[in-house]
Amino acid sequence: MLPAVKDYRDLARRRLSRFAFDYLDGGAEDGQALARNLAAFERVLFSPRILRDVAEVDAGVEVFGRRQAMPMLVGPTGLNGLYWPRAEEVLARAAHAAGVPFVLSTASTSLIEDVRAASDGELWLQLYVQQDRRIAQDMMRRARAAGFTTLMLTVDTVVHGKRDHDVRNGFRLPVPITPRLAADLLRHPRWCLRMLRQGGAPRLVNLARSAGLGTGLAAQAAAMSRQMDRSLAWSDVAWLRAHWAGPVVVKGVLSVEDVREARRQGLDGVVLSNHGGRQLGSAPSALELLPEAVAAAGPLALFVDGGVRRGSDIAKARALGATAVLLGRAPLYGLAARGPAGVAEVLALLRDEFEITLRLLGQTRAQDLDARALRPDSLERLRGL
Ligand SMILES: Cc1cc2nc3c(=O)[nH]c(=O)nc-3n(C[C@H](O)[C@H](O)[C@H](O)COP(=O)(O)O)c2cc1C
Repeated sequence: MLPAVKDYRDLARRRLSRFAFDYLDGGAEDGQALARNLAAFERVLFSPRILRDVAEVDAGVEVFGRRQAMPMLVGPTGLNGLYWPRAEEVLARAAHAAGVPFVLSTASTSLIEDVRAASDGELWLQLYVQQDRRIAQDMMRRARAAGFTTLMLTVDTVVHGKRDHDVRNGFRLPVPITPRLAADLLRHPRWCLRMLRQGGAPRLVNLARSAGLGTGLAAQAAAMSRQMDRSLAWSDVAWLRAHWAGPVVVKGVLSVEDVREARRQGLDGVVLSNHGGRQLGSAPSALELLPEAVAAAGPLALFVDGGVRRGSDIAKARALGATAVLLGRAPLYGLAARGPAGVAEVLALLRDEFEITLRLLGQTRAQDLDARALRPDSLERLRGL
């Protein structure tokens, strides 16, 4: 195991072709929101207590009535096949082994059914709604049939954020072979071989299947060219409920007013998220909104993501009132660096760091972490970001 998530990032940078690493790692515009996500965690300081018998610690928490090993989920990320073949199956298996849910993206490169076959663990579906609503309906139907428990509707991508690096690298789907890309690929023969063995560039097979398209390149281009449904609105919650019996969570909330609206609409939870700093360049970080959002959320589950790179970050989010955090890039760095072993290592690393933090805080139960574990001026420091 490497010492920290950032070491997996460094290794991933060396192993992946340039365009794939930039797609994984980069943020929107000049990377301001991405930097802010990381800086926010640094602002929060702990207030450790001593001599409190921390021989036994319990990292577990309950989410929607289900026990999970710690307050974290492997969050939804699209196009994971760029880093490793059958990536979502690998991620789902590793999440199950770590005792936490895995959220499968609509833009996944493995089928819902294959992910289910790969893991007996808890699975959630992340939904993007395209203009033809039948695609989303079919995806919900397939996920229900496969025993997925929870629906996560992502709402912060009505259009793609402006990602300069993708423009610079000429990255789009299907991947065009330009001279620049060819030179990039030649510098990473091992990565190329891995991609070739899986049959070339990863495909959005889930989307294609629910759209009734094949998995050929032309079909992929057609699947991608279909637009997100920009008319989606709060009034569509009823439509979602009609197609999903389990908990429904909305992801991409960045204002306290929208937390209140989610509650009025009877949703089960929200994910405070700026999409890993990949959408709106000058977005606030989810962590800095968390203290205000807690009061507005009431009984809603309150998830937070963006910039979680340490087990201590998870403790900070939990102490500020989050139910759990979502991981975006961290497990993907592990995947790109070392494949299945790398994902397992990153999740184990975060677990170790989380337990170390609990013990050093004098806290025996993750479930009980609250603002008393933080320096009182942490909120001021977050506000001053
Ligand atoms: C490469 C990549 C792909 C992503 N794809 C999706 C996606 O398909 N659906 C989604 O809801 N969020 C997606 N996200 C956002 C993540 O779910 C999450 O909000 C974000 O990555 C958290 O920040 P972190 O990467 O700093 O942990 C993606 C993020 C990354 C890095």
